[in-house]
Amino acid sequence: MRSAFLQLAAVGLLCSTASICNAQATAARGERLYADNCSTCHGEELQNNSTVAFDLRRLKADEHERFVTSVTNGKNTMPSWDGVLSDQDKEDLWAYIRANANDR
Ligand code: HEC
Repeated sequence: MRSAFLQLAAVGLLCSTASICNAQATAARGERLYADNCSTCHGEELQNNSTVAFDLRRLKADEHERFVTSVTNGKNTMPSWDGVLSDQDKEDLWAYIRANANDR
């Protein structure tokens, strides 16, 4: 939590270009979407504590397509989010996950 906060603060300091400001807004929105839709199974603030759901912090930067496909279609016991989350919602979730990934 603390480190995520510090990262957001650091991005805030760098917020001199529009693209960085947009990235910040997107990850912040993704954090709320995650808390509302994903945290029950994937853990509060991405701190996966179950042995069932995938630890989303393990997704690599080049696994965006895998992320979108799994979220859209669902996977095994994970429900499909098709028609629930918009494309923008998925991108915001991805930005949030990437900002907290093990491998940044
Ligand atoms: C009802 C519980 C549940 C909820 C809610 C849930 N997931 Fe999952 N998710 C799972 C489980 C269980 C797996 C492991 C699926 C497997 O590999 O068998 C998983 C796997 C995943 C994977 C990895 C799939 C892969 O490619 O291996 C992604 C990405 C993912 N979830 C994203 C999300 C996102 C984003 C949300 C919120 C919008 C979410 N999940 C909400 C249960 C859930």
